[in-house]
Amino acid sequence: MSGKAKVPSVRLDRLLANLGYGSRREIQMLARAGTIVLDGAPLLDADRRIALDPDLPARLTVQTRPLDPLPGVALMLHKPLGVTCSHKEAGPLVYGLLPPRWRRREPPLSTVGRLDKETSGLLLLTDDGALLHRIISPKASVSKRYRVTLDRPLRGDEGAIFSSGTLMLEGEEKPLLPVDLEVHGPTSAAVTLTEGRYHQVRRMFAAVGNHVTALHRDRVGALDLPADLEPGQYRVMGEEDVARVFGQAPSNS
Ligand code: URA
Repeated sequence: MSGKAKVPSVRLDRLLANLGYGSRREIQMLARAGTIVLDGAPLLDADRRIALDPDLPARLTVQTRPLDPLPGVALMLHKPLGVTCSHKEAGPLVYGLLPPRWRRREPPLSTVGRLDKETSGLLLLTDDGALLHRIISPKASVSKRYRVTLDRPLRGDEGAIFSSGTLMLEGEEKPLLPVDLEVHGPTSAAVTLTEGRYHQVRRMFAAVGNHVTALHRDRVGALDLPADLEPGQYRVMGEEDVARVFGQAPSNS
């Protein structure tokens, strides 16, 4: 036995159609025109099965451009203010920050949880349903850190209230799990929490008589928003980035 896992394969027309390059008929035409090239040689027959090797995007070009990330992709996006985490609401959507073809991907990309329209920062997206559920599962307790700017100075008792595990948000029946508060200044702080209740950070500060004027997520698990990822930019996550979400440091550091 070689011990090597068998790489799955898929028909070229199906692969490219599911990545949003067009209908299977359109892919057949692209192939016949010699515009799909694998390892330097045109793939003229779109019925051909292609092994889904992880390095395929580096070896296969479509109309001279490298192939898009294969299914099973995870992205980190620096969400700017004013865009919505939704597939269908009116106004600018986070999906509009990705290449238009990616909107036709099957399985589709979804955000891992949501950030409010007026919250900026680290947003993860994936087409891998199992990964998405692993991240948002309460069992995983993946932490999220938010930088908060407030309307009024902190009173001094917020840290104790947030960490108590007894804070009840308006209209809810279960208290919040403990939340860590790090005070940075009279009207600035960071909170780290593991739940993801609706408008949680804004409602927590409302519960202690304050008002959040700016909210920015800078960390998920042990994954920091990269300093060189500008608002509106995204990056494909590597295995080490995914491991960091679950709080593991990369193996070589
Ligand atoms: N809490 C909020 O209030 N808004 C967010 O976008 C995220 C957490």
